[in-house]
Amino acid sequence: MTRHLLSSADLSRQEVEAILTTAESMHDVQKRDVKKIPTLRGRTIINLFFEDSTRTRSSFEIAGKWMSADTINITGKGSSASKGESLRDTVRTIDAMGVDAFVIRHHASGACQQVAGWVDASVINAGDGTHEHPTQALLDAYTLRQRLGDLDGRHVVIVGDLTHSRVFRSNIITLRRLGARVTVVAPPTLMPSGIDSWSEADDFATSYDLDAVLAGAGTGGAGGGVDAVMMLRVQRERMSGGYFPTAREYTVCYGLTRERLASLVDANPDVVILHPGPMNRGLEITADAADAEQSVVLAQVSAGVAVRMAVLYHLLSGEDIAP
Ligand code: CP
Repeated sequence: MTRHLLSSADLSRQEVEAILTTAESMHDVQKRDVKKIPTLRGRTIINLFFEDSTRTRSSFEIAGKWMSADTINITGKGSSASKGESLRDTVRTIDAMGVDAFVIRHHASGACQQVAGWVDASVINAGDGTHEHPTQALLDAYTLRQRLGDLDGRHVVIVGDLTHSRVFRSNIITLRRLGARVTVVAPPTLMPSGIDSWSEADDFATSYDLDAVLAGAGTGGAGGGVDAVMMLRVQRERMSGGYFPTAREYTVCYGLTRERLASLVDANPDVVILHPGPMNRGLEITADAADAEQSVVLAQVSAGVAVRMAVLYHLLSGEDIAP
């Protein structure tokens, strides 16, 4: 495995499977009364977050602490970045202290790639702008495998604000690495430009028609029923203009409503509903769907700790053995 995790494309299928297998062992640690293993004793991990986060930041901190690493949280607002210090000077300053890894969230796409060129420590991308969020894709794959087993040939539908979604960009790489077929659905205004050039492969399709896709009526990689639906957050903080007329209209056309959930479950009682969080309840997903038996939203959060422990283990421990 490479020294950094900057993009889901950095990981081969074999490496993704190795991380997910290690995450199963880490999940066992997570279930113990005493959640501590010595694997990263003496290692120092810096969580450097220039954008807000609840799930990613806390799960990386917990993951590091449970593996006995020293973890330190730095945010843009509380650091000298607020006095105008550049990202390069910030990371080189911290790197000079002798740390082992940076976990970075930044509003600029490509920021983590740049940091990797400036520091000696490992760099893990915890979400960079609208580019990628590779550990989210790993935890989503882990959660799906827990419910569905092998993902080969499984059909995953990803719905919502694709334009601003780093989760979607990482997921289409990781899910397809594992053999799943992916259909992405969005209004035309939230479909990334140029996406048609990605969709020639058999395992990838695009659509503007959510109901047709959920009915298994899609084309290309979208045929043959639906195993999982991943709803994406409408990222209003990244929108400068009007991408849809009203919130109500968005929900009617692209929301996972009670009616859509009912017809999905009717067709496939084992369908899996995912959302990376945070959710806009009532906009892209209704409370009925978010809290349904088929929803794995909290399982995704739980998997986030185990998967991030596994990523830290593979990047930093240098050991071949499971914990
Ligand atoms: N899914 C996700 O990245 O959530 P946070 O922004 O809370 O970390």
